[in-house]
Amino acid sequence: MGDLFWNKVAAAVIGLVLMVMVIGVVGDIVFPEEQHGGDEHASLAYPIDLEAVMGGTGGTGPVEEEVIDLGTLLANANASSGERTFRRCVSCHNAAPGAGNLQGPNLWDVVGREAGTYPGFAYTAEMSAHGPWTYEALDSFIENPRADVPGTAMSFAGIRNEEDRADLLAYLQTLSDNPVAFPAPAAPEAEEEMAGDEMMEGAEGEMTETAGDIEDQMQALEEAGEAVIDDQAGDGAMPEDAPEEGGN
Ligand code: HEC
Repeated sequence: MGDLFWNKVAAAVIGLVLMVMVIGVVGDIVFPEEQHGGDEHASLAYPIDLEAVMGGTGGTGPVEEEVIDLGTLLANANASSGERTFRRCVSCHNAAPGAGNLQGPNLWDVVGREAGTYPGFAYTAEMSAHGPWTYEALDSFIENPRADVPGTAMSFAGIRNEEDRADLLAYLQTLSDNPVAFPAPAAPEAEEEMAGDEMMEGAEGEMTETAGDIEDQMQALEEAGEAVIDDQAGDGAMPEDAPEEGGN
């Protein structure tokens, strides 16, 4: 009878402690930043990469290797730094209207031109068969001319940096009385969705950790509870230092 009583007391105490813990843990989930001051949990709380959401191109945050679409690159491109890059082309290309051909064809109005069609220039057959110069086509040609148009007579190594190429394309856009519009940047909704996914992953991480915490604490409590019960049982239901009362 005594044993049962103390077991009930222990169960009640454990129940109460558990309830307090659960409230704490739920609070933790609802207000994560208040609990986890400056430790590594804080980064899990709001893992939104602002730069990714804003469509920025800088790379200081923990952004994964990400392919930036040409439209976004062009939207952030700088035609005047592209004009500086174009100095690498002027030994072979004129850019003013009617200025004639050099070793390469004149590049006035090149965006939108059917490749290999500038009057008076002797193109290779490969270049003549290449198709229209969209921004995408120009971008991959300038990146690596001989890989993009095998057999081309343009002996130029190429420009590997995509932002430098975007700047150059922005300059080529200005070489026209009717500039061709840039392709639209990738839909921002897609990036917001990605940020949402990241947030979900973060929340899931937090939940899993919390679940782990509860398990740990449950086990600790169970052990503590067993110890209490063992104590009581071994002592004949009386605390060790309880005064002895006669006639028991
Ligand atoms: C060493 C000389 C040389 C340099 C430097 C050079 N090109 Fe060319 N480019 C050529 C020649 C030659 C052709 C014609 C290729 C063919 O017919 O296969 C050409 C063709 C092109 C065409 C195709 C034009 C058309 O009418 O279809 C584009 C676009 C072009 N070059 C852009 C550039 C740009 C941009 C640069 C600088 C980043 C550059 N080139 C640097 C020699 C050069």
